Amino acid sequence: MLALASAFNEALVWAAANPALATVAAVVTVAASLQVVAALLRGSNGYSHTQSLFDLNSRVSSSKERSSGYTKTHTVGGGNLDERLKDTFNMVNDYYDLSTDFYMFGWGQSFHFATRYPEETLPESIRRHEYSLANRMQLEAGDRVLDVGCGVGGPARNISRFADVSVVGLNNNDYQVKRGNAIAAAEGVADKVQLVKGNFMDIDMPEESFDGAYAIEATCHAPDRTKCFSEVFKVLKPGATFAGYEWVFTDKYDASNPEHKKIMDGIELGNGLPTTTPASDVVDALTAAGFEVKSCVDLAPTSQVPWYQPFVPEYTVQGFKTTPVGILLTNLAVSAMELVGLAPKGTAEMHTNLSTGASTLYEAGQLGIFTPMLQFVAVKPGAKGQAGRKSRSRSRAE
Ligand SMILES: C[S@@+](CC[C@H](N)C(=O)[O-])C[C@H]1O[C@@H](n2cnc3c(N)ncnc32)[C@H](O)[C@@H]1O
Repeated sequence: MLALASAFNEALVWAAANPALATVAAVVTVAASLQVVAALLRGSNGYSHTQSLFDLNSRVSSSKERSSGYTKTHTVGGGNLDERLKDTFNMVNDYYDLSTDFYMFGWGQSFHFATRYPEETLPESIRRHEYSLANRMQLEAGDRVLDVGCGVGGPARNISRFADVSVVGLNNNDYQVKRGNAIAAAEGVADKVQLVKGNFMDIDMPEESFDGAYAIEATCHAPDRTKCFSEVFKVLKPGATFAGYEWVFTDKYDASNPEHKKIMDGIELGNGLPTTTPASDVVDALTAAGFEVKSCVDLAPTSQVPWYQPFVPEYTVQGFKTTPVGILLTNLAVSAMELVGLAPKGTAEMHTNLSTGASTLYEAGQLGIFTPMLQFVAVKPGAKGQAGRKSRSRSRAE
């Protein structure tokens, strides 16, 4: 509330000093709000047959309790790590139940960052980031691949097309699974890409049944990475590669620095994380799970355009939504939707949390204390079984 009040003050001061810009901002906001409402009514991204925020009311019960319970388990809301570790599964599920439509509206069907080049649009960078990971996995056409924490399946559909593989997406969020499967059907790829509900901390799938696995910005939600990676290890065939992008703090992060600590607390609140860890945690967990770690490198320094560029607050059409004024106006629009029952109770609170997540990611990126793109490539020891591949190509040829 305090943050909103100070943003409101800032907005008033800014509007008084910039009346012409304030008028433009008001027009842009009304237009953007109408666009949001229109998108929500038809189901965001044009998939009218899938669910959308519009019917969240019927799909998420006790949404107000869930959003405030979510906030309270986080340090910013007075909670602590023990509370978050006690029930990470439901904490993360609450987060995605109330934030998925914002993600889809603001980001698209792939919920991750990317290394960027000036010549690329954000969607182009996102796809290249996915293809580049697929390239590291030594996949062969016809392989069966596991996507660990698959979102609504944007990466799964892209990688399936790119590498000519079938992908099973594992996700604990029912809503994302339903939306992702509806999109796969609409895009005619349901035979190659299937999303299934399940917990990556306890994977209920046959052992040694996948030729490869990847996790894109998902296992940061795991309360225990070693357990999670051990589950992935179990379902991979010997010789198979597990690759991913991890969220970690860098060597520049200093836990005794109050500014750093505040930023990391904000990242955890705004992104559904139980905690944040260093890169060494990823390598240690992969090794403890039994993998041979081939490489583990932070790609952020290689990005010509900073990965956090979408969150740079600027008074431009693109950057306006992340300025204090833009955040306030969007929050007012969402609160109004909540008031008239168009959005469920608690949506505005989740929007505030997401805004904190965006601004703290931006700050962390600028300071270089955090990266969402620690790329790891690890292999399950053993020779690649040729039998599975041969029999599959025979059946494809038949
Ligand atoms: C930031 S999203 C990334 C999604 C996807 N990899 C992408 O890039 O679009 C994290 C995903 O991990 C999933 N997830 C979190 N905890 C999980 C768990 N315990 N089991 C399975 N999926 C989980 C979330 O539901 C969400 O879909």
